[in-house]
Amino acid sequence: MQIITGKAKIAAVLGWPIEHSRSPLLHNFWLQRHQIDGAYIPLAVKAEDFKDVIQTMKAAGFKGCNVTIPHKEAAYQCCDIVDETAKKMGSVNTLWFTEDGKICGTSTDGDGFVANLKDAGITLTNKKILILGAGGAARSVAYSLLQENAQITITNRTLERAEQLVQDLNSGRIIDWQSWTKELGSFDLLVNTTSLGMEGKEDFQFDLQNASKNLVVTDIVYVPRITPLLKAAEQKGLKTVEGLGMLLHQARLGFSKWFGVDPIVDHELTEFVANSLKK
Ligand code: ATR
Repeated sequence: MQIITGKAKIAAVLGWPIEHSRSPLLHNFWLQRHQIDGAYIPLAVKAEDFKDVIQTMKAAGFKGCNVTIPHKEAAYQCCDIVDETAKKMGSVNTLWFTEDGKICGTSTDGDGFVANLKDAGITLTNKKILILGAGGAARSVAYSLLQENAQITITNRTLERAEQLVQDLNSGRIIDWQSWTKELGSFDLLVNTTSLGMEGKEDFQFDLQNASKNLVVTDIVYVPRITPLLKAAEQKGLKTVEGLGMLLHQARLGFSKWFGVDPIVDHELTEFVANSLKK
């Protein structure tokens, strides 16, 4: 049983809604594994209350927090200190408070995405990568892939958003949303950052018939764990990487900032969190 004392280190995840978040599960798994006197709690916070809650958490001695929809941009605005990644994203998902009362923030989604692929043995340098989507998730993924010297191409239903992203990143090529399946043969990695295939959304058939046999396919969607895209890739015998690992890896930095231990992502953690997705 996990007992917390008066000296416990406390962190949280803020979102609206928050019930769906798997972050409490995974951080408390690590807290228990490392026998740390601490807790990580979900806080349902409305957009209009966000700034006040952050200040209150700081005053109450919280170590920091994760933020999810709809707070990532507001969290960026709250920060006293941000890194280059956060500046490029204009948003953060991880905050920590320093001893002298400063609020620091970064966005760990892109690093989590890259770490998940590396964990699966995928190399990224000079690889040709096709990214489906041009929203916030695509921005994180694309930025981190560029840090790995990958060559990125973006395709998005709304062309203007793809153009804006390429302009902001100062790198990348665009192909038309209608023609990505035809051009798939020239890519090493296909990444879905759209909500297509997410549980509760409309069905979508991914056409991978032009894929080369060495194409690796990954999805940042993890509910369902095996998405329609991953299923289509498996049926073609392609290597796939599940999105769940990105969620687990993006959590590591925050945990180490708040609780002082750099945790690992392993099979036991993956299955523990995956089991919660079935319910
Ligand atoms: P996130 O921050 O999770 O990336 P977002 O900014 O709303 O969320 O972006 C969602 C992405 O999924 C966008 O690329 C969106 O395409 P548009 O820019 O054209 O809206 C994409 N998307 C969502 N539903 C889609 C659909 N039915 N078909 C194609 N793309 C879709």
